[in-house]
Amino acid sequence: MISKFAQPWWKEAVFYQVYPASFKDSNGDGWGDIRGLISKIDHLKDLGVDVVWLSPMFESPQADMGYDISDYQKVYAPYGTVQDVDDLVEACHKRGMRLILDLVVNHTSKEHQWFKESRSSKDNPKRNWYIWKPARYDEEGNRRPPTNWRSYFAGGTWTWDELTQEYYLHLYASDQPDLNWDDESCREAIYEETMRFWLNRGVDGFRVDTVNKYSKRTDFVDAAITDPTSEWQPAPEMWCNGPRIHEFLKEMNSKVLSHYDAVSVGELSNTPDPEGVLEYVRASEKELDMVFQFDMIRLGTGGGFGGKYDYQPWKLTQMKTFVERWQSFIEGTDGWTTVFCENHDNGRAVSRFGNDSPDHWQNSAKMIALWQTTLTGTLFLYQGQEIGMKNMPASWGIEEYKDIESNNFYREAEKDKDVSKREQVMKGLQILARDHSRLPFQWDGSAHGGFTSPDAVPWMRAHDDLESINVAVQQGDCDSVLSFYKRMLLLRKQHADLFVHGNFRLVDEDNEQVFSYTKSSLDGTKEALVVLNFSDNIQPIPDILTSAKRKYSTLLLSSACSTSSVSKTDLEPYEGRVYLGLTD
Ligand code: GLC
Ligand code: CA
Repeated sequence: MISKFAQPWWKEAVFYQVYPASFKDSNGDGWGDIRGLISKIDHLKDLGVDVVWLSPMFESPQADMGYDISDYQKVYAPYGTVQDVDDLVEACHKRGMRLILDLVVNHTSKEHQWFKESRSSKDNPKRNWYIWKPARYDEEGNRRPPTNWRSYFAGGTWTWDELTQEYYLHLYASDQPDLNWDDESCREAIYEETMRFWLNRGVDGFRVDTVNKYSKRTDFVDAAITDPTSEWQPAPEMWCNGPRIHEFLKEMNSKVLSHYDAVSVGELSNTPDPEGVLEYVRASEKELDMVFQFDMIRLGTGGGFGGKYDYQPWKLTQMKTFVERWQSFIEGTDGWTTVFCENHDNGRAVSRFGNDSPDHWQNSAKMIALWQTTLTGTLFLYQGQEIGMKNMPASWGIEEYKDIESNNFYREAEKDKDVSKREQVMKGLQILARDHSRLPFQWDGSAHGGFTSPDAVPWMRAHDDLESINVAVQQGDCDSVLSFYKRMLLLRKQHADLFVHGNFRLVDEDNEQVFSYTKSSLDGTKEALVVLNFSDNIQPIPDILTSAKRKYSTLLLSSACSTSSVSKTDLEPYEGRVYLGLTD
């Protein structure tokens, strides 16, 4: 039997990510801000949120929406002030909630003082805080970067700096130079200036950006050519999960996090095998509390690099395999896992995993709620997920996409001799782009969804569907997506032994329409069966229900209809159900 007291608080907590530019604008400049967030904090409390994760609100030139920080101890003026963050901490704590910030320390902005010093001369004391390398020269004597690595946002990972005649490394945009974690004084500055500064102000922990990229291989050699059409090659084996990564994270934990009882959730990409992930999240290793593993959320992408936006249709069985792997890999270990299907780097779940057409939008958004809230691990919701916000309409052109990644991939495709490439990338962007989740939050049916004042120009266009999909219309409606999330979050807490901590088993795994699984409490006394119809047709309920009737005797709830009117044999399109039962 799990004793509640033996478990850290963050396992059963519900986290909710706020993307501050798009949540709520308090002063009519079209840009969300911290005062706006504070004014809506009770929406989160009512929903059942325990922890707010605030995406970067630090001083930044906004080359990558604040993931390019020029001063960790200042707030980007359009977001507010440090005092506003203090007030936000207080607003959360007063309601029994917590606040975590985004820790972006793989790289800084090129406008950060550290980088300005580092680039100023080869013998500046901070020269080694970034990764500088001399040029290579080809047979004709042309200057070439040190390696052929492709960066995340298209193009290579090196930028030439005229002043000192060397290249610096950047895994993302050239505005985001990578810090050199191999330098001890650089690490100490990170701990002191980016972490302790905010923890001392009462912040409760961090979502740790790009957590496995701090240690790079130090031989700086070319990656194998896997994309012969490009001069730049995917090279995660060169800069991800490098030789000192576990040493660095243990140090970060022992020197900083452990002194504050701060929670940490790392963004762990390019790590497909469970053993590799476990090394980061075993409690006994004292590194991170948990991580985001991306197999599931990357469904449909054509890989993380050049082909990312070549959309790949996927099958339900693939999704089941991923979910099963990342649900069960912690069994019998002291590790922990997370549950999420949206964030600021991906399209909306209802459009990708459900069906956002008028006939199916509501049912599929509720089914997704039922799915996510019955999975094991710490649950993370993304703003707007709770009202079923959708991807932007397919009729919107590339000019509505503001993200650096979307724009760079589109521009790269435009240059391609093959003209179909542009359409292919556009199609991928329509489903997968990071922009979809960054549209203004839909508070009500007024202009811009009530995100900003009616006469303001929001930084991204508000969705065409805002009149029908918004908090105000859903609040009073007991059948709404929002009401359903509230109900499911309560049930998740009530049955935390099953839904948060339980063991996950796939049922009927080859079924391409219905996703079914059981959850059982670790003490073996309780069991639940979850059935989710991921298709737009009526589907028979899997045999397991009839063959093990006694076990799953109670229909706890259906996402589509009242329990009294459910069919005994069939599931409605995009209907989800949970049955509870006692084991023999
Ligand atoms: C992470 C962030 C993403 C950002 C990148 C570079 O992946 O989630 O938004 O672009 O790091 O900091
Ligand atoms: Ca504002």
